[in-house]
Order: sequence, then C-alpha cells, then structure tokens
Amino acid sequence: MRLFIAISLSKPMKAALISAQSEMIGRGVRGSCTPEENLHLTLAFIGEYPDAEPVLEALSDVSFSPFKLHLEGLGRFGDLWWAGMRRSDPLAALARKIRHALAENGVPFDRKRFSPHITLIRRARGDMPGIRIDNASMTVDAVSLMRSDRGKNGMIYTELGKIAASPAL
Ligand code: 2AM
Repeated sequence: MRLFIAISLSKPMKAALISAQSEMIGRGVRGSCTPEENLHLTLAFIGEYPDAEPVLEALSDVSFSPFKLHLEGLGRFGDLWWAGMRRSDPLAALARKIRHALAENGVPFDRKRFSPHITLIRRARGDMPGIRIDNASMTVDAVSLMRSDRGKNGMIYTELGKIAASPAL
C-alpha cells in the first residue's frame, strides 16, 4: 500500500482553498482540482510499504505541542499549483521529528527537502492568476497516517491512524 503522513485540514481552511481553486477556474485555468476531501498537507511521503504498524510505532515516538498554521500565497512546481503556508518553526520541527522517527524505526521515506504546500491543481494549464487566497488559519493538533489508493474517479485517501499533540505547556 501507498502511505504518507499528513496534517488533515480544518473546514474553514478547506473552504479558503476551494474558493481559491474556484477563482482560478473562473479565470480560465484548466486542470485537475484536488477535491475538498483530499486537501491535506504532507509531512513525509513513504510510498509503497507493506505494513502500517511500524509507521504507527514510529509516530508514537513523536511528541509536539499544538501550533497554528496560516495559509499564505500560491505557488507552482511546474504544472502542479499549490497553496503555501506562512513560515513556521513548529511545522518544520514537526516534519523533522517525524522523519527522524521514521528513520530510527527503519521506515523508508522520500528524503527530498520538506517544502510545505497544499496541492490545489494538478496538470494546470493557463497563466496563474494573481489572486489573493484568504488568510485562513487553523490549529494543528494531530498528524495522520494516510493510505492512498487509485480510485475510479481519482485518488482515495484513508486515515489509518493518528497521533495527537500533547497539551501546550
Ligand atoms: P504532491 O501533492 O506535491 O504531489 C500523496 O501523494 C501526498 O504525498 C501528496 O501530498 C504528494 O505531494 C506527497 N508526496 C511527496 N513526495 C511524493 C512522491 N515522491 N511521490 C508522490 N507523492 C509525494
């Protein structure tokens, strides 16, 4: 199965993202929009791996306090267009801890540098409009292990487990 570790997004955060997508589509952009239920922020991509148990075990070694995530700006990796986040030390630290725990537990993952983004449109065509995305924010108080399957109508993401933040000191 194909696994990744991600932050699930709040309703208001998703609403801001969906509204940015709609505005882009309204301005003539074409491509494959991430459906609302699939919007997420990936912290580590594991890929094909036979067993969720060692991954959940690794996650159980990770502790973090709740922190705020703020949407900020739009960007692109070629034809993949995304929404960005305001620079956040707790977010970077969380990704680092998770990756460290995976490595310690012998779980392989994509070691590409962490560049936090939420994919909005894949295979985007047209010029990226200079739109403003709402300054939505949310509190991150959990991290999920996700399984990704190719469905008939696109990707299906299923949460296999999650870890909760410890209360802030
Ligand atoms: P993306 O949205 O930029 O493609 C599930 O595929 C999640 O894992 C997506 O958020 C995807 O990011 C991310 N991901 C990170 N590295 C990946 C890789 N090497 N292959 C596929 N997905 C990857």
